[in-house]
Amino acid sequence: MSIHNENIRRVTTQRVLEMKQRGEKISMLTAYDYTMGSIVDRAGIDIILVGDSASNVMCGNLTTLPITLDQMIFLAKSVVRGVNRALVAVDMPFGSYQGNSREAIASAIRIMKESHCDCLKLEGGEEVLESVKRILSAGIPVMGHLGLMPQSINKFGTYTVRAREEAEAEKLIRDAHLLEEAGCFALVLEKIPAQLATKVAKKLSIPVIGIGAGGGVDGQVLVLHDMIGLNNEFSPRFLRRYANVQEVMHKAIENYVRDVKSADFPNEKEQY
Ligand code: KIV
Repeated sequence: MSIHNENIRRVTTQRVLEMKQRGEKISMLTAYDYTMGSIVDRAGIDIILVGDSASNVMCGNLTTLPITLDQMIFLAKSVVRGVNRALVAVDMPFGSYQGNSREAIASAIRIMKESHCDCLKLEGGEEVLESVKRILSAGIPVMGHLGLMPQSINKFGTYTVRAREEAEAEKLIRDAHLLEEAGCFALVLEKIPAQLATKVAKKLSIPVIGIGAGGGVDGQVLVLHDMIGLNNEFSPRFLRRYANVQEVMHKAIENYVRDVKSADFPNEKEQY
């Protein structure tokens, strides 16, 4: 965060680790702009993720692949300006870290320098370990991401539950340990069997935050637009919808159109 409010106790990577140690569940949601970031922060969330799911929900792309480093930095900067308390994590977009660790560190430094976020998240285990280590060596906290990795959709071919098979589950466990040993401060597990996620969370000393990974992990993350019903097109089993904001907006806009057309708006009190 660029502007520090001395009266607010900020969430740090250390505080997130302490939450796991005392058994306090960690709450995490995405946000992609200033207004949403500030609403989510004021509601008391622990971690705000500027997710590359912005590619889907903000830009209308079918996958997370097209979003660029420049676009992620633009969104992250806006979110950071609205946040006083939460830890702000930013997703490294597809193509910004997979090539080699030099590219990875250059991308990571750009995101940190230009957005003023607190930490980064990237997808993958052993395959990206060198990049993870290089980023960590620059003093940048890293959150891992295993299980369903949307940036690899073209390899998987589907968004279905991952690691149901023993071989994939064993690799996931190995990768989780590698990421912890490398120094990641937390790990996201997406859409894997609850039993496997619980086992990983018990074995690791760093916090494990799940999305579609059951209740046996150390925290939960959801995409804000899905969770508040701003986007109603995505209804996986793991999603709990807490509001129907799309309906509220739709009604408000319909009423506005009606009032403009009928010349009811603006009235005498709404003019100078
Ligand atoms: O991009 C994103 O929103 C994410 C969450 C689903 C964890 O990575």
